[in-house]
Amino acid sequence: MKLTIIEADQLKTKPDDSKLGFGTLFTDYMFNMDYNPEDGWYNPRIEPYASIDMDPATMVLHYGQGVFEGLKAYRTEKGAIQLFRPRDNFKRMNNSSRLLCIPEIDEDFVLDCLKKLLNIEKDWVPSASGTSLYIRPTIIATDPFLGVRASHTYRFFIILSPVGAYYAEGFNPVKIWVTRKHVRAVRGGVGEAKTPGNYAASLYAGEQAHKHGYTQVLWLDGNEQEYIEEVGAMNIFFVINGELITPMLNGSILPGITRDSVIALAKMWGIKVAERKIGISEVLDVHASGKLEEIFGSGTAAVISPVGEIKVGDTVITISDGKVGTLANRFYNELTNIQYGKIKDPAQWIEPI
Ligand SMILES: Cc1ncc(COP(=O)(O)O)c(C=O)c1O
Repeated sequence: MKLTIIEADQLKTKPDDSKLGFGTLFTDYMFNMDYNPEDGWYNPRIEPYASIDMDPATMVLHYGQGVFEGLKAYRTEKGAIQLFRPRDNFKRMNNSSRLLCIPEIDEDFVLDCLKKLLNIEKDWVPSASGTSLYIRPTIIATDPFLGVRASHTYRFFIILSPVGAYYAEGFNPVKIWVTRKHVRAVRGGVGEAKTPGNYAASLYAGEQAHKHGYTQVLWLDGNEQEYIEEVGAMNIFFVINGELITPMLNGSILPGITRDSVIALAKMWGIKVAERKIGISEVLDVHASGKLEEIFGSGTAAVISPVGEIKVGDTVITISDGKVGTLANRFYNELTNIQYGKIKDPAQWIEPI
């Protein structure tokens, strides 16, 4: 397939690197590609960033048939631009697509198109400490039809957004709220896919957590409301008696790329790792016996997010004295140093542009 490039008449003014927030500014260009059953994926093109003109009956708007990804391009101290495990994002996108009955994309081809897009937009990759260019590949169902079935046509697009440092105010632990009333995903559902409905399902409990003065929700399993799944939009890790424990992937947990990287680093460092079921009762028990050393979340946005407090019903527990744990700090430094090219990549995770 031949990639077409359509030039913009005018370019936007670039923002000040030190004043960037998250997800509000978009670059000059985007990547687009369409799908129909006769041609498969066709007409790949890089063109000026623009609105998508849609019929009000467009299927994604009604039934949420869509998938997306989230990754970042980092500027190194020498000015080069690099990606962290981008192939894993496109692979996960295809896994999500399979669950949502969306046709798969050619992972190598779209990675190549992303690299070309980033080459055109390289001046948009910020260089202030902790900043990056957030990349959002998305697929939406585009048939104008109100019947419930999989769409026949789709649009794949990639948009880019320069983002500020996640920890602009310091690497501080967050407070999390446990709910037994609401669940994010259930066994046999689409929890392991990165699809809009999972995020819509998380909003109400998220608002409840904020009302109670907590930053994130700790999601329990949908069957027994006992086993821990994720925290906010992150995977979760526990350090208990020197062992690193994370819920095993079960179909309702998103298989995070940061999660996989934390597990890989821990193994390289000789830390004992277990991927297993872990219940909220077990967490309270090990806390009571003084064996709970750390809890932290992992994800592309924050990389590592230490947890300082958990509220379960009327019980509130403090973790690591409300401070950043030793391992959370070590994983955060190692991963960000790899992403920004400050240290050698230990596992071919870096893809230069
Ligand atoms: C629900 C959810 N869980 C976990 C993660 C972490 O995944 P990753 O490490 O690939 O960013 C994300 C973010 O992408 C997410 O949205």
